[in-house]
Parts: sequence; structure tokens; C-alpha cells
Amino acid sequence: MTLHEILADANTTLGAVTSLPELEQAKAKFLGKTGSLTEQLKALGKLPPEEKKEAGAAINAVKGQVEALINAAKARILDAELNAKLAAEAIDVTLPGRSIGLGGLHPVSRAQERIEALFATMGFSVADGPEIENDYFNFTALNTPENHPARSMHDTFYVEGSKNLLRTHTSPVQIRYMQSHKPPIRIICPGRVYRCDHDATHSPMFHQLEGLWVEEGISLADLKGTLTQFLNAYFERDDMHIRFRPSYFPFVEPGVEVDMEWENKGGKIKWLEIGGAGVVHPQVLRNGGIDPEKYSGFAFGMGLDRLAMLKYGVNDLRLFFENDLKFLSQFR
Ligand code: DAH
Repeated sequence: MTLHEILADANTTLGAVTSLPELEQAKAKFLGKTGSLTEQLKALGKLPPEEKKEAGAAINAVKGQVEALINAAKARILDAELNAKLAAEAIDVTLPGRSIGLGGLHPVSRAQERIEALFATMGFSVADGPEIENDYFNFTALNTPENHPARSMHDTFYVEGSKNLLRTHTSPVQIRYMQSHKPPIRIICPGRVYRCDHDATHSPMFHQLEGLWVEEGISLADLKGTLTQFLNAYFERDDMHIRFRPSYFPFVEPGVEVDMEWENKGGKIKWLEIGGAGVVHPQVLRNGGIDPEKYSGFAFGMGLDRLAMLKYGVNDLRLFFENDLKFLSQFR
């Protein structure tokens, strides 16, 4: 092959390679141990000395051109590989991002906040008490001495070796608040309470909403007005009715069971019990450091979970406490 042919061959061969291994083979074809240019260089030795210089220069010039072709081919291959890689790994920047789900309030907390706001418009502030309560505030100060039969309805979780227990109702907050505040007193106390109970409508932990209004001249009529106004606001209506049924709670006299008129899904109207209430017993006022000759008051205790169930149309109390996101996320 002449140098001219070798260069022409290099042009076509190197112009056609598409990968680095192919390029290596092509390179060997010209510059390898038995490559065509290498053969030319080997042949130089057999030439007469006066021709060597010129022939050598000619071979080197072609060698330089072939090397330039190799470099160009290499750059072309690397470029193509990079482009292919970029195309394969393309990121679609127009895809919507993956959002972090928005959290929300638990339906019971939601109902509670709403109830607090509604009672605030009637001048009630929110009071709080410990969930691990002692025997005195939970029972004795509420007119329920040891061995009183009413205690057995409040079977709960006692803290071993002490007079402490998980509070069975929010009523002890009444005593705590009266002991540290002077009338007029107008509070609600929403919170967790505990009893040994577990079925579709009872959970060992549930929520109550206690209310207490102590002032001169407060009566059951005020209780009826307050609860009716609250229920109208809470259910966003203006025709809620409640009725009182005589009942017994040691810390009120008279004591009543509060029923609310409620229309079922089927349109049937019935009375639904929503809590207990009454006129605060004189001894309970005294235990709170308040003179029963001067002041009177009403108290009530409602099921907060019950109110949330009615508001949101939930029919199984346990759903509130199973922490299933499929259920909870519906209230976001
Ligand atoms: N503490 C009572 C219970 O859990 C409910 C209750 C009844 C609260 C009458 C009151 C009340 O404040 O006056 O069963």
C-alpha cells in the first residue's frame, strides 16, 4: 500500500468507527505492531541512505494525519456517548413535585376547639386539671366518700400503692378551680377521662366536657338556656331542644340527665342523652371554698366524643382512637 492509500483507508475506517473498542481496532490497523504505517517504518531500514530522510518525513507526515483522525474519532465517540447518556437519564422537570402531606387536627380536637370558641362567646374560659388525679378531688370533694355506691360506676385504673387514679370524669376540675378562684366562675373543662369500659360506644379513654357557672342567683333555667344556645351554635341550627330527666349525681342537687332532640338519618326524631347536669350541691361549693348561702351554680358533664360523632356523622367511637390514617385524613 502506498502512503496515499493508507491515508485514504484511514479516512474511511476512522470516519466509520462508532465505539471505543472499534476505535482501538482501527488504531491497531495503522499503528499497531503489524499496522500498515508500522510496516512502512520497518521498510525504511532497507532503503538506501539518501532516500531514507525524505521517505521518513513522508511517513511521519501521514502518521501525524492518522493520529489526528484518531483523536477526532475519539472525541466524536465520547460526545455521542455523553449525549446518549443524557437522553437516557433525562429528568422531566415539568412533573409536579411530590408534596409532603398536610397534617390536620384530630376530629375530637377539632370539635373541642370549636366548642371552646363557642363557649368563649358566652363568657366561659377553659380550665384544666391533671389526668392522674387523687381520690379526694375525683370522689370525696365531689360528695362521693369512700364506699359510696356511686364510686362503683366509675371503675377505673388506680395507681398502685397510692391514692391516685386516672380521673374518671372532668368534674374534679370544678373543685380545683373553685379552690383557686372567686365567683363569678364560668368555665368549661374539656379533657381525657378513663374507665374500665370497652365496646362500640365506650372506650377506656374518652373525652368529657365539664361546665361550671357559679354566681349569685344562677339556676337550672340558666343551664337550659346556656346548653340550648350552645347546641344551636354547635350544630348550626336555631331549633335545638333539650329536656331534663331527674337523675342522681352526688355533686348536684337536683341532678338531671340532659337529652337532646335529634333527627336520625332516616328522619326519625328521638331523644338522645348527651350528659349529666344539675345545681351544684352546697357541700361541693363549700369544698371549693365558696359560700352556698350567697352563691349558687350549675354544672354539667357531656361526652365530647359523642358531640364529635354527631357533628361529623361517625357511628363507632373506636374509630376515633384507632389512629387509622384512612379515617383521620378525611377530616383534614
Ligand atoms: N361527672 C359525671 C359523669 O362522668 C357527669 C356529670 C353529671 C357532670 C352531672 C356534672 C354534673 O358536672 O353536674 O358521669
